[in-house]
Amino acid sequence: MVIPREKIVVIVVLKSKKYINKIKLNNFMMPNIFEKLELPEKNSSISKSQGEFIYSFLKDKNIKNTLEIGFCFGCSTAYIINATKSKHIVIDPYQKEIWKNIGLKNIVKLGYKKFLRFENDFSYNILPKLFQEGKRIDFAFIDGSHLFDYIMIDFFYIDLLLNKNGYVLFDDIWMDSTKSFESWIKTNRNDYKLIKKDDNLLLFQKINYDERKWDHFIKF
Ligand SMILES: C[S@@+](CC[C@H](N)C(=O)[O-])C[C@H]1O[C@@H](n2cnc3c(N)ncnc32)[C@H](O)[C@@H]1O
Repeated sequence: MVIPREKIVVIVVLKSKKYINKIKLNNFMMPNIFEKLELPEKNSSISKSQGEFIYSFLKDKNIKNTLEIGFCFGCSTAYIINATKSKHIVIDPYQKEIWKNIGLKNIVKLGYKKFLRFENDFSYNILPKLFQEGKRIDFAFIDGSHLFDYIMIDFFYIDLLLNKNGYVLFDDIWMDSTKSFESWIKTNRNDYKLIKKDDNLLLFQKINYDERKWDHFIKF
């Protein structure tokens, strides 16, 4: 049977379109989030490349149970919810007072309000409550207060909430407080494994449960 030339061209075009769509799906077509957000010129939001890393990471691992400390203009929240399309817990006491509710407006504008559980309080108040609720998570982004003791307290509770094999991500690793925390976790917590350190982000995976003896302490 002889197939006409035009028919061959149509078949090739259709097949390659299908192939391209498949590639796009596997690579998670990056959503155009950054451009859709209202971000005042001076802001402390994550960068576009950081947001895109968070988005692809969550998609790739198919992670759904997420929590974040530090909301600001809702930039990281938007990337997280876009990737998971699941309930996401966000903690920040200053949304109205300092950030003029711009973060909440951004989330509403994107149509993500139904996925957001927003806690308008300090992380040191909310995290113990979540623990008492029996909440479990597979991913946490710690980007709240960058004081050393606050990072420690945030991590302490996140560790209690985090399932084994879950991940914890830190922003602003250029800061001495974060660097000291990094040094502590690397020397004192062999139940956490470093997964990534670049683009001002630090990612650890909880590979085991905390089995330190009561007097364990390694200088860091
Ligand atoms: C660097 S910004 C977060 C940016 C956000 N992750 C983003 O990229 O869109 C830090 C946020 O932490 C919040 N914050 C400060 N102290 C906090 C605390 N103790 N608990 C929770 N959030 C806190 C601030 O209000 C601020 O919005």
